[in-house]
Amino acid sequence: MRHNYFDGVVAEQYDRSEDRMFAPEVLDPTADFLVGLAGGRPALELAIGTGRVALPLSARGVRVSGIELSAAMVEQLRVKPGAECIDVTIGDMTSTRVAGRFGLVYLVFNTIMNLLTQDDQVRCFENAAAHLEPGGCFVVETGMPILQRLPPGEVFRTFDHTETHLGFDEYDVATQRLFSHHYTFDGTTYRRNSVPFRYVWPAELDLMARIAGLRLRERWAGWDRSPFTSESPSHVSVWEK
Ligand SMILES: C[S@@+](CC[C@H](N)C(=O)[O-])C[C@H]1O[C@@H](n2cnc3c(N)ncnc32)[C@H](O)[C@@H]1O
Repeated sequence: MRHNYFDGVVAEQYDRSEDRMFAPEVLDPTADFLVGLAGGRPALELAIGTGRVALPLSARGVRVSGIELSAAMVEQLRVKPGAECIDVTIGDMTSTRVAGRFGLVYLVFNTIMNLLTQDDQVRCFENAAAHLEPGGCFVVETGMPILQRLPPGEVFRTFDHTETHLGFDEYDVATQRLFSHHYTFDGTTYRRNSVPFRYVWPAELDLMARIAGLRLRERWAGWDRSPFTSESPSHVSVWEK
């Protein structure tokens, strides 16, 4: 049984985030990139959440379906304009199958790391590939492990420090696991939410893709197709079936 970390208050407050990932400057290039790859074919978002990306993509004329573990996240999606165009299946993105073949399957916002074992991450690639038609693409957007910033023996790194939110990542390099600890201030008290991840390098993702019958086609530092370098904090990778 998989734990749902995006239930209750987390789902209710997800779209109230001040994170730049919710800004039009990020979402417009994201949707532009994906609409180009879809090339008029239907798209499937793994871990569709509240439709942050699916809704702008659907508004550009792409037929979007989704798979999502958290019913509470999908409830948030359902009350938004345009949600009636999006079919969502509640289930696990490593194993849940939906009807049809897709020209594009995508998994964004570091969510590959929500799968906590290498086996589950491989299963996710295999499930994505099973939904793709030949020539279709699987796109993953995820952060780079920031181990260059961890001196030997140190395990914590601060990733956010504002009036209302403190965020710390806690690394275990032996297991490739990390916990993201969030402390969110609601005006009276801090609410803590700690979420486990398995970080993964691009080269390991390429091997997972190969196991699933996919080949790397493009890798960029972001949705604007800026070059991916050793300094890039994240990447957008595209594998083709
Ligand atoms: C960071 S949110 C991203 C949501 C959405 N894709 C976005 O970009 O805003 C991570 C999402 O992954 C979902 N999730 C986590 N593990 C999952 C799994 N094994 N199968 C399906 N969805 C999963 C969570 O419920 C949550 O909605």
